[in-house]
Amino acid sequence: MRLHRVAYLPGDGIGPEVCSVAKRCVEAAGVRFDFEVTWDAQLVGGAAIDEIGLALPPATLDACREADAVLLGAVGGPRWDDPSAPTRPEDALLGLRSELELFANLRPVVAHASLDAASPLRSEVRAGADILIVRELTGGLYFGRPQGREEHDGVESAVDTLRYTRHEIERIAELAFELAAGRRGHLTSVDKANVLASSRLWREVVDDIAPRHPAVTIEHALVDSTAYLILTQPTHYDVIVTENLFGDILSDEAAAIAGSLGLLASASLGTRVTLHGRFGLFEPVHGSAPGIAGQGLANPLATVSSAALMLRWSLGETDAADALDAAVTASIEDGPRTGDLGGSDGSEAIAGFLLAHLDERAEVPA
Ligand code: IPM
Ligand code: MG
Repeated sequence: MRLHRVAYLPGDGIGPEVCSVAKRCVEAAGVRFDFEVTWDAQLVGGAAIDEIGLALPPATLDACREADAVLLGAVGGPRWDDPSAPTRPEDALLGLRSELELFANLRPVVAHASLDAASPLRSEVRAGADILIVRELTGGLYFGRPQGREEHDGVESAVDTLRYTRHEIERIAELAFELAAGRRGHLTSVDKANVLASSRLWREVVDDIAPRHPAVTIEHALVDSTAYLILTQPTHYDVIVTENLFGDILSDEAAAIAGSLGLLASASLGTRVTLHGRFGLFEPVHGSAPGIAGQGLANPLATVSSAALMLRWSLGETDAADALDAAVTASIEDGPRTGDLGGSDGSEAIAGFLLAHLDERAEVPA
């Protein structure tokens, strides 16, 4: 029996509802594939601000450091939205990313044919689209210093800094090449090299690394035209690698290809190697959705897919990851649907479908 330790950070809004579904799916897969997970539940975001006054309490960070992986729901909500508040729920995400060195954010986007009606794109445009966005997560505009407000000689201003070191670009580009080599062998590096110095370094470093990966074709593209082409020709893309803020924007945009933000999973991989893989934090791309929180209406599929990424990347439970992915696909194709996908079913109906699927297949001999 293999044992894994997961820091469990449900957070705010719909976070606890969707995490609970993912947790039960992982447990069901554990029964079937003979492993057990210890869930170390911790406060994060608004929930932590209310209890302790900090978005990312030290105990939460310690638990993450001791775990093989982190499963996170969502943080934030109108209750903590005061822009002048000393601490905001989102600070927890940035703190986790930098403290745990989660430099690589993987956001897969797949166009399932059965969700044609949920996507604003025409079916012939989205058919077959399967993109992996690799977003740099610990550098760029989010973390560059100086950052903040200033006042000099009565002139008020605010500054953010877009800085990348060669090393930061190298490690994200290296991973993106490896991921592309394991897929269709096509990598698009997205930048704004016609204007930004940081993008010109980015391009140079990507080109320096390219010869190490002869099986991958590399293309450079500007972020503005990519924002257009990703929706008009989504099947052109395989793996996209890009700077932190560009990746933030492009990944939400790409959710339109999938049909709903409620389907997008993410893995934020760190530098630490665990017993069975690489340490990472796994969370749905959607936020805390305060408008539907606590009503059992949230779509848990993005969190279940994130848990599948966790099983694959950090826990080395490939069969269980495949089983969760298969259950999610079956649910998208034949299962109940939540409101974001045009249905009127609740999270528990989806949970019931997924658990039955995980269980039923357990009876099929391998
Ligand atoms: C995301 C979110 C976060 C980000 C916010 C909530 C800080 O939009 O994970 O994409 O901007 O990275
Ligand atoms: Mg975002």
